[in-house]
Amino acid sequence: MPPSRLLCCALSLVFACAAAPPPDVERRVDQLLARMTLDEKIGQMSQGASLGSPVSERSRQEIRAGRWGSFLSTIAFADRAEAQRIALHESRLSIPLLFGRDVIHGYRTMLPIPLAQAATWDPALVEQGARVAAREASADAIHWTFAPMLDIARDPRWGRISEGAGEDPYLAAALAAAQVRGYQGPSLDAPGSIAACGKHFVGYGAVEAGREYNSAWIPEILLRSVYLPPFHAASDAGAATFMSAFSAINGVPATGNEFLLRGVLRGEWQFDGFVVSDYGSVDELVTHGYAADQADAALKGVRAGVDMEMASNAYHAHLKALVAAGKLDEKLIDDAVRRVKFRLGLFDKPVPAAPDPTVFLAPESLAVARRLAAESAVLLKNDGALPLAGSIGKLAVIGPLADSPLDQMGCWTVDGRAGDVRTFLASLRERLGADRVIYAPGLKTPRDTARDGFPAALEAARAADAVLLFLGEDANMDGEARSRAFLDLPGAQAALAKEIAAAGKPVIEVIVAGRPLTFQETAAQARAVLYVWNPGTMGGPALADLLFGDAVPSGRLPVTFPRTVGQVPIYYAHLNTGRPPGPNDLGIPLGTPVDPHGFLSKYIDVDYTPQYPFGFGLSYSTFEYSAPRLSASSVPLGGRLDVAADVTNTGRYEADEVVELYIRGLVASVARPVRELKGFARVRLKPGEKRGVSFTLSTADLASYDAHMHLVTEPGAFQVWIAPDSDRGIPGEFRVTQ
Ligand code: NOJ
Repeated sequence: MPPSRLLCCALSLVFACAAAPPPDVERRVDQLLARMTLDEKIGQMSQGASLGSPVSERSRQEIRAGRWGSFLSTIAFADRAEAQRIALHESRLSIPLLFGRDVIHGYRTMLPIPLAQAATWDPALVEQGARVAAREASADAIHWTFAPMLDIARDPRWGRISEGAGEDPYLAAALAAAQVRGYQGPSLDAPGSIAACGKHFVGYGAVEAGREYNSAWIPEILLRSVYLPPFHAASDAGAATFMSAFSAINGVPATGNEFLLRGVLRGEWQFDGFVVSDYGSVDELVTHGYAADQADAALKGVRAGVDMEMASNAYHAHLKALVAAGKLDEKLIDDAVRRVKFRLGLFDKPVPAAPDPTVFLAPESLAVARRLAAESAVLLKNDGALPLAGSIGKLAVIGPLADSPLDQMGCWTVDGRAGDVRTFLASLRERLGADRVIYAPGLKTPRDTARDGFPAALEAARAADAVLLFLGEDANMDGEARSRAFLDLPGAQAALAKEIAAAGKPVIEVIVAGRPLTFQETAAQARAVLYVWNPGTMGGPALADLLFGDAVPSGRLPVTFPRTVGQVPIYYAHLNTGRPPGPNDLGIPLGTPVDPHGFLSKYIDVDYTPQYPFGFGLSYSTFEYSAPRLSASSVPLGGRLDVAADVTNTGRYEADEVVELYIRGLVASVARPVRELKGFARVRLKPGEKRGVSFTLSTADLASYDAHMHLVTEPGAFQVWIAPDSDRGIPGEFRVTQ
């Protein structure tokens, strides 16, 4: 280790591992705890919102007094270093500070947004991405990220859908574990590791009407089947911390929810790390109508199991008096303090003297970012217009998002810098030469309604051989507090698309967005549609790779795309109902009222099917799937079943194909969804190559919750698909027997 990186060797009890602490750590914890005053203990449970930059005199005094255990949102390395110096050398017990930050999808190297990363269906690559973020953040003296966000979201109106892995618990759980591994590395005190924080525990993604901070009503069976699994996977993967949600679930705010925090997280899952509240969410227990006043909120927060208060007010103000009054057992405080830092291993972790500049935007990190951006793009439509021939003459680049670094990075890019971003436009110019690219944005921003840029855009389209039309949302339209009631393209983008279509040139739409959008009419005018989400720093080169066939699109939707916002919530793993519509019940044009054809579970003014189903995504190649081969037609409880299918690349391009495994339990004491994802694999096939892709299912993999919340596999008939998405595939059948 270079000496410059070793300012002191005092930090590592704060981060070693979240699993059972070794005995010497426990001993050190006991010794330290015995020396702490109640005020100092409460300090360790309190996270400050602001340190000041440079560190304010007030913060200095408070750190010396042991008033803070952690800070969030500190901006400069120098401030963190100075605050840490004060904590280590000027506070009574020299307990290091814990610096948390929203490292949501990259630090300096901005990776695609989490929803995009989920579209890769590539946990190993997502793990590498989290590692890149951890290396950079850790070099900058950040110890702890408030990520991954593990909220299942089935409502694209909710702006935070962009921060998670989409609608499916199986995919989200696989990616949750991958991210925890990536952030935390082999151990928390390993170089380049930071602590992960699974958030927002739990149910926040189910807020009613997709309206931010709204209430969620989730029956326990749905909670356990759908919303908890990603958190459970993160806990099993050793996530050091969790964050409680802002929202109330079934009337009880998540931050005061003893059933969830003590019952499920600590009790059932044996989680041994600590829980931080969300920003001010302890105070908000009062606003929710769950606590009488701030003191009551502090009491309920600690009792429920919130070990650290983010942006603390209530713990500081009331915990001491609550203990003195005998309302709060100091043991609960000791337990929280033990969890907060001492079991995590910060005390022996070296403090960098200065950030090592070679860690940021390192070539290998940019390569991971580029691969993530390429693998996350989902090809939604292509009539053969893509890939573009390298020999193409002139390309018109149109749209407000072609050259917009901030929008390309997306939400939560606190440490990303616009200047580091290689924009779509810049990369296309680099690729083709500036003289072959005609750029006319048409609109100044995605929300712009002024049409004065249209004539120049039309002229550009006319002068080109093909048009790349960049449409979507700006980065401020998704993420926290960015709920939408409409999912269409904002501003005059649809009108711009219509105008451009009139030029008669092949139009390729590139959609830049953090959520599923509804853009049917616009897509119908295009020859190809590529959904690139917010692909981050390397989005430009990745797009150029895809457009010209150096990379083949392989992303798959991690969330169902509705035809119209009125279909929301819409997700593939729905129940069959007593009156399911069939394939012949389609064909009702959007917006046209017709008489209902039969009394079925559908709409009278729009198809009941989604615009694009979960798991969907095209390739430049084509693939054929055989019927599934099953190792047996029946499997006894406790047994295993092998399911395989031949997947053949019938097209002209060597490409990755994401092969998806679904099951359906046909009869159960609580009805089961029409399909449930149970496995997936990314396979690379050469043209003409045929590969047997196989999965093994144990009967435990087929289990579901019964009405008593027991996870059981009920004997009976099952279907199984090995398929390219949640809508296609040939079913196989088997029985589970007693
Ligand atoms: C509020 C958000 O809900 C949470 O996700 C984030 O980590 C904190 N603020 C800290 O910025």
